[in-house]
Amino acid sequence: MKAQIVLFIAGIASTASAVTAVKPYSQWMADSFIARGVAKEKSYTFPTLYRGFEMVYNATRNTKYSTFVQTQVDAVLTDNATSPLIGWNFGRSHLDDIKIGSSILDLYARTKQAKYKTAADFLRQRLNLHPRTASGGFWHKIPEYPNQMWLDGLFMQSDFYARYTSFFDSSNVTAWNDIVHQFELIEEHTRDPESGLLFHGYDESKVAVWADPVTGACPHIWDRAVGWYAMALLDVLDYLPKSNPGYAKLKGYFTTLAAAIIESQDSATGGWWLVMDEPYPGQAGNYIESSGVSMFTYSMLKGIRKGFLPKSTYEAPARRAYQLMLDKFVTNSGVNNTLNWEGTVEVGSLGGNGTYEYYIAQKIAQNDFKGAGPFIYASIELEKLDA
Ligand SMILES: *[C@@H]1O[C@H](CO)[C@@H](O)[C@H](O)[C@H]1NC(C)=O
Ligand SMILES: *[C@@H]1O[C@H](CO)[C@@H](O)[C@H](O)[C@H]1NC(C)=O
Ligand SMILES: *[C@@H]1O[C@H](CO)[C@@H](O)[C@H](O)[C@H]1NC(C)=O
Ligand SMILES: *[C@@H]1O[C@H](CO)[C@@H](O)[C@H](O)[C@H]1NC(C)=O
Ligand SMILES: *[C@@H]1O[C@H](CO)[C@@H](O)[C@H](O)[C@H]1NC(C)=O
Repeated sequence: MKAQIVLFIAGIASTASAVTAVKPYSQWMADSFIARGVAKEKSYTFPTLYRGFEMVYNATRNTKYSTFVQTQVDAVLTDNATSPLIGWNFGRSHLDDIKIGSSILDLYARTKQAKYKTAADFLRQRLNLHPRTASGGFWHKIPEYPNQMWLDGLFMQSDFYARYTSFFDSSNVTAWNDIVHQFELIEEHTRDPESGLLFHGYDESKVAVWADPVTGACPHIWDRAVGWYAMALLDVLDYLPKSNPGYAKLKGYFTTLAAAIIESQDSATGGWWLVMDEPYPGQAGNYIESSGVSMFTYSMLKGIRKGFLPKSTYEAPARRAYQLMLDKFVTNSGVNNTLNWEGTVEVGSLGGNGTYEYYIAQKIAQNDFKGAGPFIYASIELEKLDA
């Protein structure tokens, strides 16, 4: 715990009152969100934050965190077994809508309450109905993006799909192979052989305005998409049976990606650029984006803990990136000793023209769950490493 007992000076002059860290950053950031209050919604950003609270609960056994998640998730569930999530939109199939299943399975694992199993069964059934590309990949979103797979989608469905299979359907080899196959398709179409990173997505029908005529891939490497993908690989490796040939494959995808991630770490700051492909790092309009930094830091630290990555190579880059987050993206709100999280881009979508100009034009938000959640995960990993 000694590493957390530091004097933290906010990086922004206007809010520069000093805050003394009296607790680990994981708890401090979670407590800050509890103090400010969080809306009760089911979109994927919410479970992305809640997972951090689950980790803080695991680390502290303080029921403040588990009760918080349960209250938040209960508010989006109903008693109607044919539609157990409030306001479910049956007119669309979005992989984003599956992500809440991760929090539902956390609650099921903790409480064994039937309503969570009912909701999980419903989401699992939605995956069976989800439209696919000719080669078996889940479409990212229908009706909006037919035949497209985005890296983001792997994070949205695969933790839920793998964990559901592990809990309730573990002998279903078809399901395990299907989970692995989603990654195989992404690798085949989007891995950039030069950098080892992955393009944001691909269109199997190659009709999107941004699609490469041969691979179907879009032209840019977006930091958050790569971060989602790295975390998804690690999620699935927590549950996929080691005896499945996909296990070694996914582990290989992860270690190759991790090498490319440290290779692309900005030498001046220790962070990563929003648009990661050459020649864009350092160019006008591009910037070091905080959700990418938090996801990469967490993935390296978890990769070390799982024994996938050598500590001797990855610990120093991960610590450097973590320090950047403390210096630049974690600030003192000036209110009630709470922290803010800065510097996370709101969106990056392949619904537009997929150009560099598109990515750099997107707004940056404060206290965005997509960056703050993974910051909590990274803090938990670092706190474990230092324990
Ligand atoms: C919390 O701990 C339980 C029990 O060890 C584990 O199954 C679960 O995956 C952990 N949750 C997170 C988010 O790490
Ligand atoms: C349950 O949800 C289904 C699907 O939205 C709806 O058709 C049905 O009327 C609902 N039942 C109740 C009792 O509200
Ligand atoms: C096994 O998984 C496959 C692929 O997801 C699915 O179509 C099938 O319904 C599952 N089988 C059972 C018995 O749940
Ligand atoms: C600060 O905390 C106090 C006591 O919990 C609360 O009444 C007040 O609303 C908080 N201030 C803000 C701006 O959240
Ligand atoms: C792509 O979209 C962005 C705005 O999102 C715009 O600034 C840019 O001019 C567009 N480029 C092309 C080639 O259409």
